[in-house]
Formats: sequence, structure tokens, C-alpha cells
Amino acid sequence: MKILVTGAAGFIGFHMSKALIAEGHEVYGLDNLNAYYDVRLKYARLEQLGVKKGNLVQGKAMPGMHGFTFFYLDLMDSANLSALFADIRPEVVIHLAAQAGVRHSIHHPQSFIDSNVQGFFNILEACRRYPVKHLVYASSSSVYGSNSDIPFKESDRTNQPVSLYGATKKAGEVIANAYVSLYKIPSTGLRFFTVYGPWGRPDMAYYKFADLIMQDEPIDVYNDGHMERDFTYVDDIINGIQGLINHPPGEDMDELHRIINIGRSKPVNLLEFIETLEKHLGKEAKKHFMPIQPGDVPSTWADTSALQKITGYAPTVDLEEGIQKFVAWYTVYRQS
Ligand SMILES: NC(=O)c1ccc[n+]([C@@H]2O[C@H](COP(=O)([O-])OP(=O)(O)OC[C@H]3O[C@@H](n4cnc5c(N)ncnc54)[C@H](O)[C@@H]3O)[C@@H](O)[C@H]2O)c1
Repeated sequence: MKILVTGAAGFIGFHMSKALIAEGHEVYGLDNLNAYYDVRLKYARLEQLGVKKGNLVQGKAMPGMHGFTFFYLDLMDSANLSALFADIRPEVVIHLAAQAGVRHSIHHPQSFIDSNVQGFFNILEACRRYPVKHLVYASSSSVYGSNSDIPFKESDRTNQPVSLYGATKKAGEVIANAYVSLYKIPSTGLRFFTVYGPWGRPDMAYYKFADLIMQDEPIDVYNDGHMERDFTYVDDIINGIQGLINHPPGEDMDELHRIINIGRSKPVNLLEFIETLEKHLGKEAKKHFMPIQPGDVPSTWADTSALQKITGYAPTVDLEEGIQKFVAWYTVYRQS
């Protein structure tokens, strides 16, 4: 199948592209390579996909390894985005490009509106003009705000996010709902829960902790460590998405738009997480206990029964194995 992966130089988009190429699909990646975090990591991921930094030209297609073509393009560039859809006519779109980062949204709100609202709208418009069999797009557990009723179910209230990031992800879901109902685009919105793993995001707590521990610097432990996260290893996320691609909504139900949680469904206490990281890094963290930060939520926990029912989804990587794999990659990457 022809599959467009947006955010292909990003953490999840990179793993997604790699897995789809390995399955023999014709994969098209798109990314604007923004500098929200160290862009060298984005180039290094692209290099793994056979795309060389020196060859990149904005707005132009760049062939990578067999089965992969990369477009250095911003979602905001609606004219070129539309031309790209007209040219390749993707059958499936996996939309992962976004401005992420709960804390970043406090100081840089505009970039969230641009990429997550306007940018996503441009994707929906392109899917309306050049119909696709299935649009799978990334939402987030942040839409649940500080709901205390756990585990989080898709039917829970999500109209009170506590960060602008969460609000833009919720806005995306609502705008998608209107577009799907008007233009019949079979779509699945996936609410991801704290994804981690090799080639991960340096702005996320687990990666920052690893950096600080290795530099003998103290780590900030928010809410005095009374935090729980439903940490999900990236391969489990990728397997979950792969299982969904061939099951667009509308196959066995009237509803063409569905929202689905994707997590491990086994929340881990932050201090236990840090302990596992210390063990694999072989170094103890200097902990600096802090109050909870604005926009942060004390716990996340995914109810994944809906995804399980559709695809038989069953995550297989536990925290110990996941952290071990992250540290194995991290140790090599930080020396490169
Ligand atoms: N990693 C997680 O724990 C997590 C949790 C919840 C939701 N998500 C969502 O999953 C998706 C992928 O996240 P990730 O962790 O891989 O993040 P990431 O930041 O590593 O990847 C996103 C990519 O999108 C690109 N991008 C951003 N704005 C763009 C624009 N306007 N045009 C083109 N490209 C643009 C960035 O350059 C980046 O490479 C995002 O939508 C994110 O909101 C991730």
C-alpha cells in the first residue's frame, strides 16, 4: 500500500516508517525538521531510513532506502501538501507530525495552534480532496486532563484539558469528527500514553533523566515522586498501529470516526521508573523533589479494551526490558 507518514523524522514516525518499509509498503515520509529538540537526532533517524542530510531541499522529494521517499515539508504549506497528495495519492495516512510537549506549550503556544490545529486541518482538507482508505492520527492522553477516574476510558469526559497541548489535541479530535461526518473519511484518532524507547525524544522526562544522571546533575522529581505514568514501549505502539491500519472504522459499524486509547495499561510509579533507569545506567540519580508543575497531571492509565477488541492488541514489552533497550541505544548514541 501507499502510506504517508507525517512526522517521519520524529520519534514515533521514524519507528512507524521503518516498520512499514519492512512490511513491504511504499512509504512516504513528511517532516519540517523543526528545532524544538536537537535536530541532529532527526537527521540521524532519517539517515537510518537512507536519507542523507546534505541532499535535503525544502518542498522536494528525496529518495531514501528501498520503499521510502522523504518530503521536507511543513504542514502549514497547504499548497505543497495538496500537491503531494495529488502526486502520490496515499491510500493510508498516518498523521504523527505535531508540536508536542506539555511544558513547552506554556511558553510557545502559537506553534501548537499552527501545527496541531491548522496543520491537522490541512491534512484533513487533503484527505477530503484526495480520498484515503484510512486516516490514523495521533491524539494524546493529555485530553483527559486531571480526570481522577482511572483507568481512562475513551468515553470519559475530555472537555477540560489542563494544558494547551492537550487542548490542541482535543481540538484536532473534534475538527476530525466534523470532517469525517461531512466528507466520509474513515478515521481513527489514537490517544497515546507516554511512549518511550530507542531514538526517543530528548525533551521527555525519561531521556532528560538519563542525560542528567550521566552528567552527575540532579533530576527534578515532580509532585515529590507521587506520579504515575502508563509508560508504553514504542514497539508496542507500532504493533498496535500496524494492527489497526487494515481495520478502518466503518467495516462493521456505521461510525466512520473512532477514538482509541493506546497504552500499556500498567501504570508505573515515577520513583520505580527512576530506579529502573538507575539500574540500567549503572548510576544513582541525585533527586531534587519538587511540587507538581502547571499543566501536569498526577497519573495516567489507559483502558485499552477497545483496541484489544478490534485487533487483539496485547503489549509485550515490560518496563525492565523497555528501559534496558532504551539505555542500550542511548549509551551508543550519546557517544556518537
Ligand atoms: N511520545 C509520546 O509519548 C506521545 C504521547 C502522546 C501523543 N503523542 C503524539 O504522537 C505524535 C508523535 O510524537 P513523537 O513523540 O514522535 O514526537 P516528535 O516531536 O519526535 O515527532 C513529531 C515530528 O513532527 C514534526 N513536525 C512538527 N510540526 C510539524 C509541521 N508543522 N510540519 C511538518 N512536520 C512537523 C517534527 O519535526 C517532529 O519530527 C505527535 O502527534 C504527538 O503529539 C506522543
